[in-house]
Amino acid sequence: MDEEIDINCSQEPGRVPGHKDEGERSSRTVLIFDTTLRDGEQAAGTSLTPQEKLTIARQLDKLGVDIIEAGFPISSPGDFEAVQLIASEVRRPIICGLAHCRPAAVDRAWEAIQGARHPRIHVFLSASDIQLAHMIKKSKVEALEMAREMVARAKSYTEDVEFSPMDATRADKGFLYQLLEVAIEAGATTVNIADTVGYSTVNEFAALIQGIFDTVAGIHNVCVSVHCHDDLGLAVANSLEAVRLGARQIECTVNGIGERAGNAALEEVVMALRTREDVFDLKTNVDSTQIFQSSRMVSDLTGFMVQANKAIVGANAFRHQSGIHQDGMVKESSTYEIMDPRSVGIPASSLVLGKLSGKHAFRERLAELGLTLSDDALSHAFRSFKELADKKREILDRDLVSLVSEELRQETQVYRIDHVDVSCGDHSLHSAAVRLIGPDGAVLADAALGTGPVDAVYKVINRIVGIPNTLVEFTINANTEGFDAIGEVLIRIESDGGLYTGRGASTDIVVASAKAYINALNRLLISRETPGTIPTPTDSISTPRAKETR
Ligand code: KIV
Ligand code: ZN
Repeated sequence: MDEEIDINCSQEPGRVPGHKDEGERSSRTVLIFDTTLRDGEQAAGTSLTPQEKLTIARQLDKLGVDIIEAGFPISSPGDFEAVQLIASEVRRPIICGLAHCRPAAVDRAWEAIQGARHPRIHVFLSASDIQLAHMIKKSKVEALEMAREMVARAKSYTEDVEFSPMDATRADKGFLYQLLEVAIEAGATTVNIADTVGYSTVNEFAALIQGIFDTVAGIHNVCVSVHCHDDLGLAVANSLEAVRLGARQIECTVNGIGERAGNAALEEVVMALRTREDVFDLKTNVDSTQIFQSSRMVSDLTGFMVQANKAIVGANAFRHQSGIHQDGMVKESSTYEIMDPRSVGIPASSLVLGKLSGKHAFRERLAELGLTLSDDALSHAFRSFKELADKKREILDRDLVSLVSEELRQETQVYRIDHVDVSCGDHSLHSAAVRLIGPDGAVLADAALGTGPVDAVYKVINRIVGIPNTLVEFTINANTEGFDAIGEVLIRIESDGGLYTGRGASTDIVVASAKAYINALNRLLISRETPGTIPTPTDSISTPRAKETR
């Protein structure tokens, strides 16, 4: 049966926000609008292919977000392609395409999302004096007209239209109210109050939201949403304050990635509402047990590592170091733990599978961890698991997560590592022999000397692939405790003004380094084949703000 969606998540008690026919949905439900693939993707140095975006979108679907903002279709052919792909493949959530206030942008957004089962166009326009004067160079009267016309244009395509006054927290309040009224009159079903530069304090944001509810005509017939940036570390606090006052949609990203300091972190918003339901009396439709896997996937594919002390998903978020805390935990976990790590899907560091485990057990364990792979990828991952089991006596859940991440990266490979052999030591020459499988299946091999084994491997790869670039970042981490842990390498390379991220994992850190380098080069190659597929730093400066003048 087709899902019917009520896009007007009205604040009137008893009105139903979100999808009205699924489970327990009431006006106590806060819709989660995930913008990882749009605002998150604008973060400097992010580089996702359309296939990687689709992989993330599928995971967001599993996570249970209500709306996926899949991209900004007019910004590049790559973004358009990704939005179109997600719209046709991911059927449960609303799929949203962003557009600035220009006819071509609204038309392009519709073109990209029209195949979606539940399409939404998100129109935005500068609202603050500073942005009106310096960026779009329009008067307030002109801006009101632009908003009216573009919301109406979006409405001619789809019932579900969101309007965002950008930089709302620095806008003149009277003008902001007018702008919202015009957008609602023209057919917006959601209005999104953006703290674009993360400037607002919690009290100020509360007053703004309350003022909007008290003043704007028609506001009670639409869904009020908030979109907070984290420049002062207040994005989550501001978002929570807004829903306490009646907003019913929060725009957020996995791991809080996004422009500059990022956006409100989805996992923090969701777990705050859940853990402190006694305070908020609100719910989301998110399946919190999918949080860890979503965080891990976004970190793997974007190359943004999660800091150890990050709330909810950081490596230390559930670790207890001090003796007193450990003692308390042994006696009763609630003494120092306000959330059960299992509720966010953090796998226990337990021995799960061994050398003799079969493919069925492997698949089952992956499913228990919320990890699903296509049949081909599963067979390949199983072979890698067997190889790992030969090297590593105990295979932990976190090893399986690393292994699957590595598998997902393979799906977008142009060149593939077939063999790496190094010779190193404190008195020897460092040399490497590398064999790659090229795009057409050709076997390509070479050897070189270097200042160390990684340098030697990178020299060989450069000789084979032949793309000039500079290494700007190299990080290595162990995925678990123990000397036999899997090493995870993150690198960023720069070429022709573009920044490309690569990741690789292996028990051998030289092999992990080689995989990470090839992964970055593959992304670079894909972006050259399809210009605009992978945003460069120059693209990420062309944020909605910069592009608005087009
Ligand atoms: O930060 C912002 O204002 C935005 C808008 C497009 C909603 O990202
Ligand atoms: Zn934003």
